[in-house]
Amino acid sequence: MQDVSVVLFGMAALLALVSLLPPLATRLTVPYTVLLAVVGTTLGVCIRFSNIFDRYGLPGDFLRVLGEIHLSAESFQVMFLPALLFEAALTIDVRRLLEDIAPILMLAVVAVLVSTVAVGFAVSPFTDVPLVGCLMLGAILATTDPTAVISIFRDLGAPRRLSLLVAGESLLNDAAAIVLFTLLLAMLTGEQEPSVLGASLAFLRSFFGAMVVGYGMGRLFCHIVPWLRDLPLSEVSLTVSFAYLTYILADHYLGFSGVVAVVVNALVVGSIGRTRISPATWGDLELTWRQLGFWASSMIFLLAAMLVPQNLSMVSVKDAMLLGVVMVAALAARATVLFGLLPLLSALKLAQHISLRHSTVILWGGLRGALSLTLALAVTESPDIDPYIQHFVAVLAPGYVLLTLFLHGTTLRGLIHLLRLDRLSPTDLAMRNRALALALASVAEKVEAMSREFHVNPDVTQRTVKQYVERQAAIERELARAQGLSADDRLYIGLVILINREEELYLQNFKVGIISRPVVEALTDRTGWLLDGVRAERLAGYEQAAREALGFSRHMLWALRLQRRLNLRRPLARRLSLRFEALLINRAVLLSLEDLNRRMLTPLLGGTAAATLGMTLAYRRGLVDQALTALKVRYPDYAPVVEFQYLKRAALRMEESEYSVMYAESIISQEILNDLRHDIKRRWRAVEQPLQLDLGLHLPDLIARVPIFAGLPEDRLTVIARLLSPRLALPDEVLVRLGDRGDSMYFIASGQVEVKMAGESAPIVLGAGDFFGEMALLTGEPRAADVRSLGYCHLLDLAEPDFRRLIEQDEDLRRHIMTVAAERRVAAGLQPDARVEAK
Ligand code: CMP
Repeated sequence: MQDVSVVLFGMAALLALVSLLPPLATRLTVPYTVLLAVVGTTLGVCIRFSNIFDRYGLPGDFLRVLGEIHLSAESFQVMFLPALLFEAALTIDVRRLLEDIAPILMLAVVAVLVSTVAVGFAVSPFTDVPLVGCLMLGAILATTDPTAVISIFRDLGAPRRLSLLVAGESLLNDAAAIVLFTLLLAMLTGEQEPSVLGASLAFLRSFFGAMVVGYGMGRLFCHIVPWLRDLPLSEVSLTVSFAYLTYILADHYLGFSGVVAVVVNALVVGSIGRTRISPATWGDLELTWRQLGFWASSMIFLLAAMLVPQNLSMVSVKDAMLLGVVMVAALAARATVLFGLLPLLSALKLAQHISLRHSTVILWGGLRGALSLTLALAVTESPDIDPYIQHFVAVLAPGYVLLTLFLHGTTLRGLIHLLRLDRLSPTDLAMRNRALALALASVAEKVEAMSREFHVNPDVTQRTVKQYVERQAAIERELARAQGLSADDRLYIGLVILINREEELYLQNFKVGIISRPVVEALTDRTGWLLDGVRAERLAGYEQAAREALGFSRHMLWALRLQRRLNLRRPLARRLSLRFEALLINRAVLLSLEDLNRRMLTPLLGGTAAATLGMTLAYRRGLVDQALTALKVRYPDYAPVVEFQYLKRAALRMEESEYSVMYAESIISQEILNDLRHDIKRRWRAVEQPLQLDLGLHLPDLIARVPIFAGLPEDRLTVIARLLSPRLALPDEVLVRLGDRGDSMYFIASGQVEVKMAGESAPIVLGAGDFFGEMALLTGEPRAADVRSLGYCHLLDLAEPDFRRLIEQDEDLRRHIMTVAAERRVAAGLQPDARVEAK
């Protein structure tokens, strides 16, 4: 049993070391993990000779203590893996991940298999280790550490989707590789039959079983966390506890993959759980997890790297040759996926195109990391494995990890430089210079104004201002010399600036709690469409995306189906309420973008581009107004309710920031500030409640608006009401399609529809009190026209069997419907039909 203080001393000193390394890595411009490996390995060497350091007091003690800390591979995994993977999965945008899930799963799972098989079969002919052992080495080395590549992508401003693909792939490939590794290890120790079918079944069982456990635990968390509302410390603690509980439940009790379960659990917490936690607490939560993730990844790396020297001290020439084979095979496998599989996926429109230069960077950036070291450790510690297999893994796995770190890690930036991925494009360069010229001019003016205010000696002022004026002149000269920005480029740059600013404004509103999460998600999703549109087709693409952005989402269509099929109204009411909120905020943001365009983009991009941008924004605002008016016409009382709530939230936030300013200026004390904040929190709860929209689908009210039902006795109305189902039609919805078989007719309680018959005839508009869809029911012929809603409409739906029952019972109604249908047949130029003649 180790003394706790010994372990604590060792860990604390390691943590101190770990905290000093990131600034050093920045200064040396090497990836952080490379530095960790160097320090870890050096420590490992020192530990081996710790007796030499014995006389050096504290440092000597430190080395001795480190040598004494003996963490088994299993303790490594249980302690650090859940934190490492939970953090990585938590930061992934699940909705975007789901959009790309096919290519990501394919890349993760297929790439792991390709890499495992390639390394396994390549090494096997050169060693006596059985094939299963070689494959296990392949699985150990199939995991990639994305941190280096992703931080480089971020520096370069590569497309967000590319970073997501890499992060998602690496997260899931960790999971897939560990499952595969565990299976191969079990085969080697004789716990598992070495058959392809058995292995595949066990793989699937472990993978999917873990997904179920992770999902279940995630949902359980979402259930519990609302009880802890406004208690950030408890909320954050619960996520930590769930990460570890999920791992242990899946791994220890159920025999599934603990890693996969943790990843899925984090994905559920990051998507569904996020909506149950206030945005402010979510910020704390992310920070805590970043911290835990940093500790976990650094410690796992350092502790695993410390064990490397002991293994590598037994390297032979043959091992070095095998390492060469591993390297070639691993690179070839990755290249096959990147240059063979990925282009195939993008040709099938399953993944975005990735340029050759980017693929090359991803290929070379496939560094291996802490996970590979930990897995290798599990082999070397397993007593059931032959020593020569242990030696094989103990040398080759850390050897290859170090090789990727030192060879790839240190040359990656050079490669990026060589591929010119770190240079500004001529357009970006011109843009940078324009921005610089503008900023310099404004600084010069401000410095002069400040000098006047503070009565600075004019000579000093002139000397300072002169520097700025000269720099500005130099930039202007460069701008004049270089080929200027084309009109098309200016427009493109302007559109991208506007889109970025739009997204920023939505996020700001969300962070202070003024708009809700589903709304901000929907809106930022749509800014993504705008960006894709601009990238593909510039202004036309932007306008097209702006139109599509106002379409109804899948959620809305599902909610509509639920209302129609099961008469569930809440989801639809909620969706419409969110649409209201989104349109209102969209309108406000467009107005401030128009202002930004006038103030900033006109001097930056010139009057012509700014005028076009202004017109485009005005066009968008027109579209939004149109969509908003449609809603307001049907729900006139609801818009002021949403506006009122929006204003109340904004006002409360302003009030809060007023107090913060007063506190910062020492006008009020901390106690008073706390008291005022407490009061605001109380009032905030009232404005936080989701609003309830009344869909207006009350059957008696709707029936009362249809004249043919007016005057019917109460008992008849009760019978009729049972046959009719109320429903809401969305603007432009096709309610009846020409040529379809008829199964319902509709009475219009409010709103209008447009009937468009075959041929050139002008469309006919029907309004409240009218009905349509009766002709096909009467004659059994296909629908005679297209009927589309104009705006939101309230309809009463009468299904065919109920229609028959109704006209059998009610002679007047039958006559009326038939007369109208007969007139319509004439108007439509159809032959008279006996089935429609009122007798
Ligand atoms: P149906 O043929 O079932 O589906 C299309 C509907 O359009 C049709 O029933 C009528 O309700 C409606 N319709 C067809 N022609 C006219 C018309 N001339 N005026 C008004 N409504 C019409």
